[in-house]
Amino acid sequence: ENVTVVDHPLVQHKLTIMRNKETSTASFRRLLREISHLLCYEITRDLELEDIDIETPIQPMKSPKLKGKKLVFASILRAGNGLLEGMLDLVPSARVSHIGLYRDPESLEAIEYYFKAPTDVADRLVVVVDPMLATANSAITAVDRIKRRGADNLRFLCLLAAPEGIKAFQKAHPDVPIFTAAIDEQLNEKGYIVPGLGDAGDRMYG
Ligand code: PRP
Repeated sequence: ENVTVVDHPLVQHKLTIMRNKETSTASFRRLLREISHLLCYEITRDLELEDIDIETPIQPMKSPKLKGKKLVFASILRAGNGLLEGMLDLVPSARVSHIGLYRDPESLEAIEYYFKAPTDVADRLVVVVDPMLATANSAITAVDRIKRRGADNLRFLCLLAAPEGIKAFQKAHPDVPIFTAAIDEQLNEKGYIVPGLGDAGDRMYG
């Protein structure tokens, strides 16, 4: 139903260390970067290829390369940047959008404070990244925003998703597939994912 759980053993192993409250900021950041490589690998698995003509030192040949326009990675600040950096390690030519949102602690609504995106996001695959899908207010708002800019081919990538968030996101954006490393139990009264890993932004940046 449009949700892919990336259950690769390395992803699951690294996620367990990230959840552990004893894990330091330095380790958390490094693990997020490593895990984002594995998630990026999965989310790009079905990209289309086309053969081009090249010459190896031995002889000419046709060889596959990615078809179409460069990808766009859209990071929901702040925590999205942890995933973004690792994604750019694997797809260094991707274009980048930054979407600054914070959750109002009372209403849990996503409030925009920054938006920057390439002008030509139409015709490109846009991967929106944020480690946490809790109420999904942030992800829904971010996808709304980038759709308004013209994007119509999107995917959402996170590390942890709450069932409530998945439901809300799918209702708002049924055309946007979700990729996540895990689906947790539920949200608590403060809108935190349980058991989760705490506040991803705080664990990365303090
Ligand atoms: C956290 C998290 C997501 C959002 C998820 O960000 O990084 O962006 O909350 O919650 P939601 O699905 O209920 O919207 P936060 O607002 O704490 O900002 P930060 O990343 O800048 O710390």
